[in-house]
Amino acid sequence: MIEFINIKKSFDGHRVLSGVDLKIEKGLVTAIIGGSGTGKSVLLKHIIGLIKPDGGKVIVDGEDIASLSYSELVRLRQKISMVFQNSALFDSLSVGENLSMGIKRHTRLKRSEIDKEVSRALELVGLKGIEDKFPAELSGGMRKRVAIARALVIKPDILLYDEPTTGLDPPRAESINKLISGLNEKLGITSVVVTHDMYSMFQVADQTAMLYDGVIRFYGAPEQIAVSTDPVIREFLKSASGCKWLFNYNRQEEEYATAQI
Ligand SMILES: Nc1ncnc2c1ncn2[C@@H]1O[C@H](COP(=O)(O)OP(=O)(O)O)[C@@H](O)[C@H]1O
Ligand SMILES: [Mg+2]
Repeated sequence: MIEFINIKKSFDGHRVLSGVDLKIEKGLVTAIIGGSGTGKSVLLKHIIGLIKPDGGKVIVDGEDIASLSYSELVRLRQKISMVFQNSALFDSLSVGENLSMGIKRHTRLKRSEIDKEVSRALELVGLKGIEDKFPAELSGGMRKRVAIARALVIKPDILLYDEPTTGLDPPRAESINKLISGLNEKLGITSVVVTHDMYSMFQVADQTAMLYDGVIRFYGAPEQIAVSTDPVIREFLKSASGCKWLFNYNRQEEEYATAQI
């Protein structure tokens, strides 16, 4: 669904991505993990053409992003939604207005049809009927759900999440993770989740890609990264948040492996 081919990107002579190759499969939840400042958000922004690569290609749904005209890019972007790290809601607008802004601008739907789409999106995130509330009246977890609902209004094929659980306590983080995998399954979309939280990664990911030193150091199932013998990956997992659980998991694996011998 999304393919990065040898993507290179520097800012002011500082190399962030030095040849990223990665295929993101249709219909799955793919997590992108890596330390802070390794370029995870930069990579995500390449998918919607918010950042352009210095070298290499980004192919989305069969189309090379760099070759598209402005109007073609706008059309492609209507298939992709992004949930930004800080939720990026407008505090002076109601929830309903926050959700309807995008489709009002990009479609010719009637008011009643727009209202229906907004209501459907809120229902999908478990917040039916809160159109008239304002962001300031909501908890962090609810704001995140509203941000996800706003991304769903356009019925995207691809949903990108940048650190969706940052700032949430563990039970709220867990319910957002369940929502992300539930939506992926229910709507049959492709999801990409950038996270530095390994517990979240294990909850949501079908596949995991780890960005390290400008390239993809690991790609595979979460169970595989947990038992990786690559010293760089071991070190990262040890220092990453949410790993206590992971290391218990590893111990079980090791005990199992030992029992097999
Ligand atoms: N628009 C930008 N202009 C200049 N530098 C940027 C820009 N976006 C990101 N960077 C730099 O790229 C590096 C990777 O950033 P980012 O992708 O946000 O990391 P993270 O993995 O934490 O999401 C950082 O050093 C950051 O300062
Ligand atoms: Mg980031």
